[in-house]
Order: sequence, then C-alpha cells, then structure tokens
Amino acid sequence: MTASATPASPSGTADEGGHKLPRPGSFYDVPGWFYNGDVVLFDWFLGRQSRLDQRGDLLEMGAYMGKSAIMMRSYLRPDETFTVCDLFDSDQEAADISAHNEREMRGSYATLTRRAFEANYLSFHERLPRILQAPTSVVPDEVEDGSCRFVHVDASHMYEHVHPDIDAARAALGEDGLVVLDDFRSEHTPGVSCATWQAVLEGGLRPVCVTSQKFYGTWGDPKAVQDELHAELKERGDCWLQYQDVAGHRLLLVGGRKAAPPPVPASRHAKGTGRAEGQGQRQEAGRGPGGRPRPTLARRAARELLPPIVARPLARALARR
Ligand SMILES: C[S@@+](CC[C@H](N)C(=O)[O-])C[C@H]1O[C@@H](n2cnc3c(N)ncnc32)[C@H](O)[C@@H]1O
Repeated sequence: MTASATPASPSGTADEGGHKLPRPGSFYDVPGWFYNGDVVLFDWFLGRQSRLDQRGDLLEMGAYMGKSAIMMRSYLRPDETFTVCDLFDSDQEAADISAHNEREMRGSYATLTRRAFEANYLSFHERLPRILQAPTSVVPDEVEDGSCRFVHVDASHMYEHVHPDIDAARAALGEDGLVVLDDFRSEHTPGVSCATWQAVLEGGLRPVCVTSQKFYGTWGDPKAVQDELHAELKERGDCWLQYQDVAGHRLLLVGGRKAAPPPVPASRHAKGTGRAEGQGQRQEAGRGPGGRPRPTLARRAARELLPPIVARPLARALARR
C-alpha cells in the first residue's frame, strides 16, 4: 500500500455516506486515549522546545480521531511540518497487518474514518497535517532522517510493529529529540512494554519520565530536561513525583491525573462565546475545566501561609493584578 500525502479536504457536516461528521465544541469532546497527565506533559515538553527554540518537524504514528494530533499541532511553527500516519479506514488486507492488529482495529477503532479525523482536526486548525494513510512501515521512506524534534508512537500495539516504529522514530528524530511511546505498560499491550525496554537496554534509548500511559525518552542526554521537568512539576505542586533507578537508568515517575490542565486548543464550534473561536487559539491560560480560574502560586501561598484576615485581601489584590 502506498502512502498518500494529502492536501486539505473540505470539512462538512456529513460524509459521502450521509454519516454525521463530528463538530467538537471543545478539545475534551474529541474521543481518544489522551489523558490529563499526558496533556500536561505534551504541553511541557513541546512548550520547552519552543522556549529553547529547538527546531524540527513533528510526527505522530496513530492518530485515531485526532485528539493528541490537535494538541501537537498547536506547537508547530510555520516553517515546520506535522506528519500523521494512520491506517484510518483502509482495507485491512491491503495494509498487510497481522491478525492481532486486525482484531484491535475492528474492536477499538471500528468507528474510525479519515473523514471524522479531518472534521475533528479542522475544528481546531485551519489546515490538515500531512497525512500518510498507510501502515507505519512507510514512515522511514516518507519522513526524512533527523528531521523531527518530537515523535509520538501510538499506532499498533503488537511487538512486531512497535519495534520497527521505535526504530523509525529514532531515525526521524534529530539530536535531543523526544519520543513518546503510548501504552508501554498497559495490561493488554505486552508487546509495547517489551519493545520499549528492549530499546532502552539494547538500543540506547534513555528514559526521561513515565506516566501510567506513556514513556517519554530520548537518544540524546536526558539529564537537563529531566532535572528541569522535576523542578517545575515539584514547584507546581499538583503532580505525584518519584525517582526510581531502573537497570542503571534514572526514571522520573509522574502522576498527573489531578494536575491543572494547560491551555488546550480552542474549537471553532465552541458554544456560548457568541463568536467562532480563532484557529489554533487556545483556551485561556490559567483557567481549569469549566473556565474556573486556576490560583497562581502566589495566591495559593498567600492563602495557605497567612492568617485569613491578611490572606484574603492579599489574594484579592493579586487576583486583580
Ligand atoms: C490508540 S489509537 C491513537 C490514539 C490517538 N493518538 C489519540 O491520542 O487519540 C491507534 C491508532 O493507530 C492506528 N493503527 C493501528 N495499527 C496501525 C498500523 N499498523 N499502521 C498505522 N496505523 C495503525 C489505528 O487506526 C488507530 O487510529
């Protein structure tokens, strides 16, 4: 099967078969397996790359309905390319995938169509990414070596596919690039666990951190980024953190289920604003779910450390500022 790199197709309200296409009013309406701790970490790692002016393309293997892709796209610069590779609704036999992968495809992703991905994506961004509708085995031929700074591997969960996907990620990444491996320790994905730790023990992959869902690593030097991440998450105070040594590698465990979410991409179908929200804009920083203001560190400290008679007026003054 050949990959198709595709220009934008129009988003409508129904596909050719008359099926209703999604119109998510918020990032959180997009179906997927992309949870709060990882939303926080994607924002942190991609935000850090922007701050440090690290250049390079973005790549996602396994996009489903676009949830993580929509988030990743928000950190792309105009001169960079975002490529997503997914089978979407391709003919399974033509895709030459294993019987196990076919079971996974028919079970979990039965409702997936490329049109639904596109409709979701175009609710948040003006233009589609470069789409490879193909098995991930096409990635090494389609993505230039050393061109990427961030690769998310979230396609098949079979060892026979994940192992080459990790090799493809390594080839695609430039120096100090970051790879994220999904489902590296889920009950139903032993093949991903095996491929991940094999890459660590035999392939030079160095862990930065893990959440309950994802492994974050680099083939560069992890120390600076790991120290910085630990320091910042510790200061935030809303993530569970622990260092562990695993086979001589320092691993940072991060529990971010209850962490305050970062600003997420805003949908053009958002309700209640009286206007269509702009492309690639993000929901207001400093606001949590439901638009509640998130207290700043200074306000939290004032509330927790000072007597109420002093803390309340001070917190109000800080909020006004
Ligand atoms: C877990 S979902 C991706 C979830 C998405 N990243 C998110 O956060 O919402 C896995 C995706 O991988 C795709 N996939 C499975 N096996 C594949 C393969 N061998 N090649 C390309 N895509 C594959 C499926 O079509 C599905 O859309």
